[in-house]
Amino acid sequence: MTPPRAAEPGTAAVVGTGVIGVGWTALFLSRGLHVRAYDPAPGAQERLHADLAALGPFPGHTGPLPTGNLTWAASAGDAAAGAGFVQENGPEREDLKHALFAELDEAAAPGVVLASSSSGLLPTTVARGAARHPERVLVGHPFHPPQVIPLVEVVPGERTSEEAVEAALAFYTALGKRPVRLRAEVPGHLANRLQAALWQEAYSLVERGVATVADVDAAISHGPGLRWAVLGPFANQHLSGGPGGLAHVLAHLGPPTERWWRDLGEVTLTPALVDTLVDGVHDELGDLDGPALAARRDAVLAELLAAKSRTELP
Ligand SMILES: NC(=O)c1ccc[n+]([C@@H]2O[C@H](COP(=O)([O-])OP(=O)(O)OC[C@H]3O[C@@H](n4cnc5c(N)ncnc54)[C@H](O)[C@@H]3O)[C@@H](O)[C@H]2O)c1
Repeated sequence: MTPPRAAEPGTAAVVGTGVIGVGWTALFLSRGLHVRAYDPAPGAQERLHADLAALGPFPGHTGPLPTGNLTWAASAGDAAAGAGFVQENGPEREDLKHALFAELDEAAAPGVVLASSSSGLLPTTVARGAARHPERVLVGHPFHPPQVIPLVEVVPGERTSEEAVEAALAFYTALGKRPVRLRAEVPGHLANRLQAALWQEAYSLVERGVATVADVDAAISHGPGLRWAVLGPFANQHLSGGPGGLAHVLAHLGPPTERWWRDLGEVTLTPALVDTLVDGVHDELGDLDGPALAARRDAVLAELLAAKSRTELP
């Protein structure tokens, strides 16, 4: 057991350095924080350094990351001891998160926020591992890649204190993130549920033979997805109504939309459907697939974010 040490505000712990942990580490280092990282996988330390070195520029950062400010910890508790903020990114498994939060709670100084990156677990469930101070446990759910996408969903559980929520909102805001605080905890939080609703219908349309995987991707990325990157679905729908705004849209397009809802698909991820989707994405991307495509996407995202920052938007 690692005894609690006093919290150092300029230090963050990154626990689990897979896909999401790498992004948080890059963001924290780029904003001048010291990082204490831990991951039990063999070779994880070397992989983290290699992954950080391979990252391109991202919003608010160019050039090499100050990896001299990165310390490898001997355990999750060792990473949390002395950190001023703890960001957990272990596998999405309830039992594992419980064990991990028990260790983090033992080691972190009182009052230090323990945030889980969990994509869908309830913070109340995660906090069951933290017997000492469950009031400082919450979900701080990023979007991939965390060093690029501003959104972080801050989700308090039943026992999370207002102080912990405020501290997490302030911490993420100071890093340049755009936190959204949820009013209640639900599986999948907010944005993943919205994505899941879209995925359900997209998979169904492919299964029904209405469109190919490539057709669905084009329909979103060359269509409503462009608007959604600027304004959310409600504000866009409001603008679609002309002078009458959302009230007009709902009055005249609401009834047909209700009929479409009755026809929306309910899918099961059968092996056959999974094969169709995977084959479809390979057909769509062909030789473009791989890290170069991710780098191109992130470069466009960086320009988009820069453009957004020059314009007043909600
Ligand atoms: N991938 C995404 O798009 C995404 C987005 C947002 C949030 N998340 C969430 O972030 C978390 C991590 O997801 P990921 O995609 O980075 O997964 P990942 O599989 O890439 O990384 C998980 C890491 O956790 C490590 N690990 C295993 N046991 C551990 C332990 N006891 N303590 C610390 N680390 C341990 C693994 O070695 C691995 O490196 C999950 O809760 C996931 O739901 C993922």
